[in-house]
Amino acid sequence: MSKLFIKLKVNLILYILPLFLASQSFAQEPEIPTDAAVISEGAKLFKGNCAQCHNVKTRLVGPALQNVWERQPVSWVINFIKYPEKTITSGDPYATALYEEYKQMMPNHDFFSDEEILSILAYVKDETNKEDVADVPTPGSGGGGQEVESSVNSDLLLAIVVGLVILLIIILIVMVLLVSALTRYIRKEKELTEEEKEFLDQRFDVGSVLKSKAFIGIVTFIFVAVVAQGIVDGLLGIGVQQGYAPDQPIPFSHKLHAGYYEIDCKYCHTGVEKSKNANIPSANICMNCHNSIRTTSPEMNKIYTAIENNEPIQWVRVHNLPDLAYFNHSQHVKVGGLDCENCHGDIKEMEVVQQHSLLTMGWCIDCHRETDVNAKGNDYYDKLLQLHESDSKEPMKVEDIGGLECSKCHY
Ligand code: HEC
Ligand code: HEC
Ligand code: HEC
Ligand code: HEC
Ligand code: HEC
Ligand code: HEC
Repeated sequence: MSKLFIKLKVNLILYILPLFLASQSFAQEPEIPTDAAVISEGAKLFKGNCAQCHNVKTRLVGPALQNVWERQPVSWVINFIKYPEKTITSGDPYATALYEEYKQMMPNHDFFSDEEILSILAYVKDETNKEDVADVPTPGSGGGGQEVESSVNSDLLLAIVVGLVILLIIILIVMVLLVSALTRYIRKEKELTEEEKEFLDQRFDVGSVLKSKAFIGIVTFIFVAVVAQGIVDGLLGIGVQQGYAPDQPIPFSHKLHAGYYEIDCKYCHTGVEKSKNANIPSANICMNCHNSIRTTSPEMNKIYTAIENNEPIQWVRVHNLPDLAYFNHSQHVKVGGLDCENCHGDIKEMEVVQQHSLLTMGWCIDCHRETDVNAKGNDYYDKLLQLHESDSKEPMKVEDIGGLECSKCHY
């Protein structure tokens, strides 16, 4: 009897307990959700907290996150994301190896719940399954797609025109040669009547053509047209630099950084929500990544030199309002809720930044006439909105809050 009991106990310990434990840890391994709402929640969290260091499919500051759930159990991944430092210093071999490779400590994310981290993983998994649409733009291919294209086009046009002119001249020469050869031939071979001789001796009189009214008329017309076009272009274009895209000391590509790697504009242009100026990033911001990504190249050396000599990189300013005008970024981006694209065009596609808008007074004012004030959730506008709605059915435009007053834009 007691033997049987002991056997049972041994059995229990040997077989049933491990089974029980295994099934228990199986149940604890969380599933990555596939729900669309969760994925979009995760997308937001990823963009706000992880995107400056991670991409789904390519290495950035940290590893590419695709399939991380196959490299380690999901519970491990969640714990690592919450406490990377603790995991690494605890001597976990996988985490230690990662740290050796990346030589940077990922910050703690202990403020996230497990569900929030699972939603991020759900987003990563969803992105992993998507087909790769965008090609990686080649880094450092400065000079820029758009620009090169248009200059190729105008070069081609010029080549065609020059070719046509040369062809015309050749045709003219051949015809003159033919005529003179034929004249000589006819003179030699044929008995000619007086009338025919007179006809042959008739010269093509260049002088009389040049003096003819028709010729003078045509030349004057072309001259006047060209000059007038020049004057009109010049007048309209005074101070307008739309399309201005200067070469920069380092061929920094927005298409690569903001487009392909989806680095948030505010990560580099730190002032857009807080101040008048958007700010151009200092070399130190570049080093957040470039001390571990593509650390050696002639372009990177320029960044290192700037930092060593404690000198700023000499970026060439693209947008230039005259001193008499006042423009404030935070007013438009933070308060007005406008996107950068409204004024700067599709920066994410630009290898070289170019001035997208006119930046004239008329441009500012047109937009102030057309754009509704973003008054939602802004107590400051409540009173104004009430006043406005009491005597107008139209939505409140920037014009209605004083956006056309000279002193708002001029010092
Ligand atoms: C400041 C940069 C930084 C931020 C922000 C960051 N990480 Fe990391 N992450 C790293 C680095 C670097 C590593 C490599 C491990 C190490 O050295 O700490 C890493 C490693 C990881 C790993 C392990 C990858 C593998 O291949 O096993 C996961 C998972 C991860 N990060 C997820 C996240 C998530 C999710 C977020 C956002 C909530 C995030 N990270 C935010 C830098 C960052
Ligand atoms: C990794 C850093 C980085 C990111 C991210 C970034 N920029 Fe820039 N940006 C720069 C640097 C450096 C310059 C100066 C060199 C140049 O003009 O290319 C610049 C220049 C500009 C300029 C022209 C400034 C001038 O001289 O008038 C605009 C406009 C601009 N960025 C808008 C954006 C927008 C919009 C985004 C997001 C879609 C963005 N940037 C993302 C680094 C960045
Ligand atoms: C958030 C990370 C990040 C930041 C910040 C960043 N870069 Fe990059 N940069 C990258 C990545 C990723 C690549 C692509 C590297 C590759 O393909 O090997 C890259 C490539 C480049 C290249 C092309 C490579 C070469 O050697 O020609 C240049 C130039 C460059 N970056 C300049 C800058 C400058 C200047 C700044 C600061 C204004 C900056 N980067 C800030 C991530 C970053
Ligand atoms: C309502 C139009 C408008 C919007 C929206 C806007 N900008 Fe600008 N931006 C301008 C004008 C105008 C200038 C020229 C300012 C000057 O010369 O004083 C400028 C200049 C800049 C510059 C050059 C440096 C500086 O501070 O003058 C950068 C960088 C820049 N913008 C980035 C951005 C980014 C990033 C966003 C989005 C977060 C953005 N801008 C949104 C109109 C706009
Ligand atoms: C794409 C549309 C757009 C363009 C272009 C634009 N603005 Fe604005 N602007 C707005 C909006 C929207 C507001 C209202 C923001 C708010 O709610 O306070 C605003 C507000 C302002 C204000 C504050 C007005 C007030 O009464 O409080 C000033 C000043 C201003 N803009 C100057 C400029 C200047 C200067 C330019 C041209 C260089 C310009 N804006 C171009 C949309 C634009
Ligand atoms: C929404 C902003 C805005 C308002 C309102 C505004 N201006 Fe301007 N103004 C500008 C900007 C921006 C420029 C610079 C344009 C340029 O360089 O082409 C400018 C330029 C000018 C110039 C110089 C002309 C030139 O071509 O250099 C004069 C003069 C001027 N404004 C007068 C006025 C007067 C008077 C008012 C009021 C009736 C007024 N502005 C209202 C934005 C504004």
